[in-house]
Amino acid sequence: MKRVHLTIVGLLLVVIGFAQGNKEAKMHQFVNVLMSKMTLEEKLGQLNLPASSDFVTGAVSSSDIADKVKAGKVGGVFNIRSVTKIKELQQFAVNNTRLHIPLLFGMDVIHGYKTIFPIPLGMSATWDMELVERSARIAASEASADGIQWTFSPMVDLTRDPRWGRVSEGNGEDAFLSSAIAKAMIQGYQGNDLSAPNTILSCVKHYALYGAAEGGRDYNTTDMSRVRMYNEYFPPYKAAVDAGVASVMVSFNEVDGIPASGNKWLVDDVLRKQWKFNGFVVSDYTGIPEMMNHGMGDAQTVNAMSMNAGVDMDMVGEGFLNTMKKSLQEGKVTLAQINQACERILIAKYQLGLFDDPYRYCNEQRSATEVFTAANRAEARRIAAQSFVLLKNNNVLPIAAGKKIALVGPLANAKENMTGTWSVGADNAKSISLLKGLTDAVGANGKVVYAMGSNLEDDEEMQKRQTMFGKDIARDNRTAEAMIQEALAVSADADVIVAALGEGAESSGESASKSNIDIPEAQKRLLKALVATGKPVALVLFNGRPLTLNWENENVPAILDVWFAGSEAGDAIADALLGKVNPSGKLSMSFPQNVGQIPLYYNHKNTGRPLTGKWFSKFQSNYIDVSNEPLYPFGYGLSYTQFEYGDIQLSSKQLKGNQKLILTIPVKNTGKYAGKEVVQLYIRDEVGSITRPVKELKGFNKIDIAAGETKQVKFEITPELLKFYNTDLKFDWESGDFQIMVGPNSRDVKTVKVNWVK
Ligand code: BGC
Repeated sequence: MKRVHLTIVGLLLVVIGFAQGNKEAKMHQFVNVLMSKMTLEEKLGQLNLPASSDFVTGAVSSSDIADKVKAGKVGGVFNIRSVTKIKELQQFAVNNTRLHIPLLFGMDVIHGYKTIFPIPLGMSATWDMELVERSARIAASEASADGIQWTFSPMVDLTRDPRWGRVSEGNGEDAFLSSAIAKAMIQGYQGNDLSAPNTILSCVKHYALYGAAEGGRDYNTTDMSRVRMYNEYFPPYKAAVDAGVASVMVSFNEVDGIPASGNKWLVDDVLRKQWKFNGFVVSDYTGIPEMMNHGMGDAQTVNAMSMNAGVDMDMVGEGFLNTMKKSLQEGKVTLAQINQACERILIAKYQLGLFDDPYRYCNEQRSATEVFTAANRAEARRIAAQSFVLLKNNNVLPIAAGKKIALVGPLANAKENMTGTWSVGADNAKSISLLKGLTDAVGANGKVVYAMGSNLEDDEEMQKRQTMFGKDIARDNRTAEAMIQEALAVSADADVIVAALGEGAESSGESASKSNIDIPEAQKRLLKALVATGKPVALVLFNGRPLTLNWENENVPAILDVWFAGSEAGDAIADALLGKVNPSGKLSMSFPQNVGQIPLYYNHKNTGRPLTGKWFSKFQSNYIDVSNEPLYPFGYGLSYTQFEYGDIQLSSKQLKGNQKLILTIPVKNTGKYAGKEVVQLYIRDEVGSITRPVKELKGFNKIDIAAGETKQVKFEITPELLKFYNTDLKFDWESGDFQIMVGPNSRDVKTVKVNWVK
């Protein structure tokens, strides 16, 4: 019986394999036939990706982009925000080009399309892969209804420097967590069938090491050892490739002295040969011509270099279009390379189903009924509340029903700022401010009074830089003192003060590096005045990066980090403040005590002189003026309830070869609220052929625990989790002693030891 069963399964697999092989063969045949008709110019046109031009509806044929499209000089266009415009341009391309090849439409759909989810750094704090995938699924479904077939997401650059504004776009400092997120997002965007009208191509970026920009200054130089690249910075990109990501964007920065946009080792050797990536590679925005500034040669040289490296598509640079013919004549590139790049772009279009129906993603009906729906917004609200990290709470939160709440601060009534950076598709005016969310939630059951209290920044110019792209916060021209007095008057008979402070939406994101990551002085002054009233104060912190919060941690009784939580921010924050949702987010990036500690990350090396005694210890690796500890460690986050970790139980302390180690630990909810806890597993390899980190995240488990309940949390550990790249860049594990740690964050762990031999 079993045998019959197996035979049937085997047969089925053969049939499926055959059908798939057939499908593949059909696709290649189609693309080959098409390419056999294409001129060199038309092939180069497919490699050209201009940004959207500003044509107005009905005027596409007179726009500057039209001439290029008509001449077959455009393969795709990005960041057009309307289904009507996209359809119009698609029709124009199909009807007016010789071979009727449809265009590819891309967009930065980074954390939602119109229904906006928390910024990626906030999403990563959920540690909930189901929610991450769900958010990407909704983003893909909304974007695809509006004509978008390709998103420039996920961004998985490892980040250890909160001065860099783009930390907001990524998943923080840990490769294991970021790899899991990459996989979930790609699954969410691409689903299992790229030709479905509600799935889109994903693009992992920025390959590679962009997060290691020196000094946290955007676009700056990066330089690191290969061992560090492979063990620490590469894994999330590789995880994306393993998850089947359709495209890869190369980064602006140099890698090992050669800009990524023209780095053959990076693209051809590592990405394509070692990782077997077979989708297409796109440059970043003018990344190819920027190689001239890097000092790599003239336009002719850098474009050939990029083609030789294996980059297929040129974003905005137009150099592939304008230089490649000459490079081909001069023998600097080959026709085979151009053909291959063109083939990869056409295959992506084929997989999307664009040759069957170029308008598959332009469905006005879907656009009208499936975007920014009540259901999607409810999901965004639910997901946003899971991203909040409770940094401190001295019995202030949750706020009980019936209280009078004074809501104060420049971010309290700032709906345009709720979506944070990179919310290209959003209609920010439709976002829910905290003032609205809290007022609605409290209803007749209490009272909310409001005062702005301060400007975002004292300096108008500084404020402008952080509130660009329609994220203005109106300035109040009264003196700082007058605004504070008003806030104090409004708070005078309140039971509790909620201070909505932090950064403007564009304080983080691209080209938003900062050397000072304190809460701006204008707001700190206000906060000090509020705390001085002696009333309970809850600081609701809006931020796109870790901030330095020493004073706040010492003096403010409660701090809830809400990042930029998206279009439904106000409702979601109200849910958390009033206890409808118990916060369960955990930090994916360490919060330093001061900027002098940066880069600061939990999985550092031990050094030859680790701090073993108390800080300060002479001739050990520490500072005179600040301890080595972060203010809040990686993995940290509180709850309205408390969790108690019992003792770790192991299936064995002596393991051999491919055995499995089973670890269980009881976690008890000792408080009075039901809550979610992210139980974290870390491992330290005590001795290695290269130096090994003091601990590395190797597992996590987010669980619901009712008040008073104990849950047994189980982890399965295999030697796969012990592997690392050695000095020959060989990926393997080494026999020896391992510390196995479990805890609620990277600092407060319980440790046991095992010995594992090959
Ligand atoms: C950014 C990318 C983005 C691209 C397209 C660039 O400036 O670095 O992350 O996808 O622009 O908007």
